[in-house]
Amino acid sequence: MDKPIELGLQTVEEMHPLLLQVHVNVMQELLMPEGERKFRCWQSHLADYSKQIPIPIVLKEVGFGMDVKTIERAYELGVRTVDLSGRGGTSFAYIENRRSGQRDYLNQWGQSTMQVLLNAQDWKDKVELLVSGGVRNPLDMIKCLVFGAKAVGLSRTILELIENYTVEEVIGIVQGWKDDLRLIMCALNCATIPDLQKVDYLLYGKLKEAKDQMKKA
Ligand SMILES: Cc1cc2nc3c(=O)[nH]c(=O)nc-3n(C[C@H](O)[C@H](O)[C@H](O)COP(=O)(O)O)c2cc1C
Repeated sequence: MDKPIELGLQTVEEMHPLLLQVHVNVMQELLMPEGERKFRCWQSHLADYSKQIPIPIVLKEVGFGMDVKTIERAYELGVRTVDLSGRGGTSFAYIENRRSGQRDYLNQWGQSTMQVLLNAQDWKDKVELLVSGGVRNPLDMIKCLVFGAKAVGLSRTILELIENYTVEEVIGIVQGWKDDLRLIMCALNCATIPDLQKVDYLLYGKLKEAKDQMKKA
């Protein structure tokens, strides 16, 4: 985050946005030949943004997964909304490595969306958790809501739909997701989103191993 507060204030003044997203995307920057190389100022800049920007600030990962230490530090600096955006969908490492023709061994960098969401459970009452990264359908959305997501975001899924269908058809598909969310909630005997957070669940395999390791850490 190399944009000093003056630029943030100017953006808000000129564009009147409802909120301002600040990206934390070190690996993406490092993999971009023309990417940012100075990372010393992001914490002081973020503190300035939290204090001085008159609209909500969302601190956002971009598909590598935000770890708990980053959430903790961001909270200390005044951030109250984070988008955890984990691995599992769009990979900007893959995109940048394809563009540069280098380092494809780093394509899978990052923590998965469910892994970071599980790790963030102790934070869900202190910060708003937005979740993105590989969310593809209403069942994925429900899983995020069970683990305390305030909202979910889909980029790749929507772009793929737009590639294959007309805008009207995509709107119809997205409207249909609302019915499917109700269907799944009915099957889980949940009338409200807070009800979803009380649903029992089982974790298997790598996700369970990761959660157990994080508990010990
Ligand atoms: C081409 C493209 C451009 C994006 N640009 C932005 C952006 O400018 N701001 C933003 O908040 N998210 C942006 N995103 C989305 C996020 O980085 C998102 O968290 C990430 O793509 C993972 O979600 P997905 O798997 O649903 O794509 C973009 C995604 C794509 C695919």
